[in-house]
Amino acid sequence: MMLKKTIVCVVGTRPEAIKMAPVIIALREQEYFKTKVLATGQHAAMLDQALAYFDIKADLNLSIMRDRQTLDHITAAVLTGAGNYFDEEKPDAVLVHGDTTTTFSAALAAFYRKIPVGHVEAGLRSFDMGLPFPEEMNRVLTDKITKWAFAPTEQAKMNLLNEGTVEKNITVTGNTVIDALFHTVKSVKETGAEELARLPKNAPFILSTMHRRESWGKPLGEICAVISRLLEEHKDLWVLVPMHKNPAVREVISGILGGHERAVLCNPLDYPDFVWAMNTSRFIMSDSGGVQEEASALKKPVLILRDVTERPEAVDKGSGILVGVSYDKIYNAASDLLVNDASLDRILKKCESQPFGDGKASQKITNTLRAYFEA
Ligand code: UD1
Ligand code: UDP
Repeated sequence: MMLKKTIVCVVGTRPEAIKMAPVIIALREQEYFKTKVLATGQHAAMLDQALAYFDIKADLNLSIMRDRQTLDHITAAVLTGAGNYFDEEKPDAVLVHGDTTTTFSAALAAFYRKIPVGHVEAGLRSFDMGLPFPEEMNRVLTDKITKWAFAPTEQAKMNLLNEGTVEKNITVTGNTVIDALFHTVKSVKETGAEELARLPKNAPFILSTMHRRESWGKPLGEICAVISRLLEEHKDLWVLVPMHKNPAVREVISGILGGHERAVLCNPLDYPDFVWAMNTSRFIMSDSGGVQEEASALKKPVLILRDVTERPEAVDKGSGILVGVSYDKIYNAASDLLVNDASLDRILKKCESQPFGDGKASQKITNTLRAYFEA
């Protein structure tokens, strides 16, 4: 009888669930692997929402989330909870994704037990430990304890090589979010989401998401003030803001945009509804990492509400425009996209290549793991 290799895939937040889902599905298609899902529950509702769409049930949910939780709490709770789970399951490998505190703490728990770690979305760098915070530190440290670095792009591979990662440990895979997106976009033509009922059919709208820790407070306020001005200046324009569950974020957004008749502030959308919204919007304004990748694949302009991005491909070969969090820069770039069709066309041309992959990243990850264990 074949002894299956046990792989534990760890997810904690919404983006990890969306980006790890295609990997979990690909692993589960192979008899060779026994695939377990450990949810840390760093996000409660948003994690469940994302996993539900992909029909994935966690084998264990640590349910660590607290209201307005601290980084210390997440770090300690995931380290202990994941460590206990690994002691029970004794996996042959642990897969983590991206750059959250779940990612780093779970990788560390595996490292302490000498369990090899595969890092999906390895090698992204902003080269500024404060931006995004604490994600840059999380991914740098995770890459230091990673056995299999699954780099989404050649640039990410280069970053790893420059830091001394051995080439044979790196596989360039593309980003698994493109696997998730391609899988979803095929079936999304319309949306019946209740949250979107107030948005008139065929109305031009900006889709916006914001949540980064370094933007809490004043920067978030500036972004919302720009949106408010755009709504005043363009009387047919709407804005759709699916708000992150974080109360620190919701308070600012609701305080400035709540009550505006053409601002639809809603709860996080199910993934297919959000994909619909990305596709249908005039353009996107976001500080999200994943949205930069998805927008580029959809060839939809995205104003990146950050001072630096660890996804330079979105700006060089994708649909991203780095505008930071300064009022004037955001206002000028957004106004341009609202009135100049030529600017939209220019961006469309820029993203002719698919900088984040071809939708087959999960297959490449699975193949790498299998080749290792069969060698
Ligand atoms: C986290 C990640 C960030 C990632 C983001 C994706 C860290 C430090 N941050 O940031 O890298 O880009 O997720 O969205 O790992 N909350 C709820 N329900 C939910 C989710 C969150 O109520 O379903 C609230 C809670 O009050 C929670 C707060 O949001 O304490 C913040 O959540 P947390 O995971 O600490 O930070 P994020 O800003 O979501
Ligand atoms: N997303 C979603 N519903 C929403 C907003 C975002 O499904 O209402 C998806 C989005 O398509 C992307 C991911 O969530 O795949 C991004 O998550 P987030 O912005 O929270 O995290 P980041 O990518 O910045 O780490």
